Amino acid sequence: MGHGIAQAFATADHLVDIYEPDPDRRACVRDQVRANLRLLGSDEAAGDLITLHDDLADAVGQAAVVIEAVPESLDLKQKLFIEVEAAAPASALLASNTSAIPITSIMSVLQDRRRGMGAHWWNPPHLIPLVEVVQGRDTGEAEIAAMMALLSSIGKTPVHVRKDVPGFIGNRLQHAMWREAIALVQGGICDAETVDTVVKASFGRRLSVLGPLENADLVGTDLALMVHQTILPDLDRTSGPLPLLEELVRAGHLGMKTGKGFREWNGESAQEVRNALARHLAQTLCPEQGRMHEGS
Ligand SMILES: NC(=O)c1ccc[n+]([C@@H]2O[C@H](COP(=O)([O-])OP(=O)(O)OC[C@H]3O[C@@H](n4cnc5c(N)ncnc54)[C@H](O)[C@@H]3O)[C@@H](O)[C@H]2O)c1
Repeated sequence: MGHGIAQAFATADHLVDIYEPDPDRRACVRDQVRANLRLLGSDEAAGDLITLHDDLADAVGQAAVVIEAVPESLDLKQKLFIEVEAAAPASALLASNTSAIPITSIMSVLQDRRRGMGAHWWNPPHLIPLVEVVQGRDTGEAEIAAMMALLSSIGKTPVHVRKDVPGFIGNRLQHAMWREAIALVQGGICDAETVDTVVKASFGRRLSVLGPLENADLVGTDLALMVHQTILPDLDRTSGPLPLLEELVRAGHLGMKTGKGFREWNGESAQEVRNALARHLAQTLCPEQGRMHEGS
């Protein structure tokens, strides 16, 4: 995520400093960014605005904004923010890209908690517009507004998450659907491929131009109410992970990386999905570039 976030700022002409302690990863970052830009048919020179560091204080010493994207561990993130606060300018905004750890807990280690917040990017960060800007219990309104303005200025679509709830907004919605998808397969209503076909060939087609609540208004809230009276009592409401998912993980069926998850995969079919996704996202970003990518 880190190199994609760096790319998003660099392509908007910002200087970016990355602290990466792993020498192998550090050596690859510029090449990864340049490869992404090449695929999009964009100017690779943006990669030159990114500087790599093996020392945290060097990386954040002049920063106006620090975005953390280290592995998902509260302890690791807290330790990092203590070091960041000691080394970064007192005015710097400090944000975590955590997927699920409460922002208030991560930022509780700061002396000045007003400037600590979540900035939850979506993968791949240089292609997906949304960034959820998450207000922890102690985050200042002005600091949230400054982050929202910065993200808008680089062409992102920031949204303000006003309360620090697990999964913020996007992942709560996404995983509510995944739970029901798994329940449908677990309950023998259909197989996993059918679930995917139903989504991709129906409401999935509309989702990027019609959000769920716009859709409810489109069909009418009266119809939405009638449908909910019938369907909601029957939806899965298991409060933890579903047994089918736990069984797959226990059996080592971890998805594309092991050749089997909910569905069966080989190297070729997994790559086809990845390519289709990359083509689709590039095309959404810029239709002309999507076509170029497709032809290459
Ligand atoms: N991968 C996703 O789709 C995704 C999406 C949204 C948010 N996130 C969140 O972003 C964060 C990073 O996820 P990722 O998938 O990029 O992980 P990753 O493992 O690919 O990258 C983490 C990077 O942090 C570096 N690192 C490890 N310890 C460090 C330390 N002490 N100081 C500085 N750098 C250190 C690693 O060398 C590595 O380059 C996590 O909190 C994750 O939950 C991930």
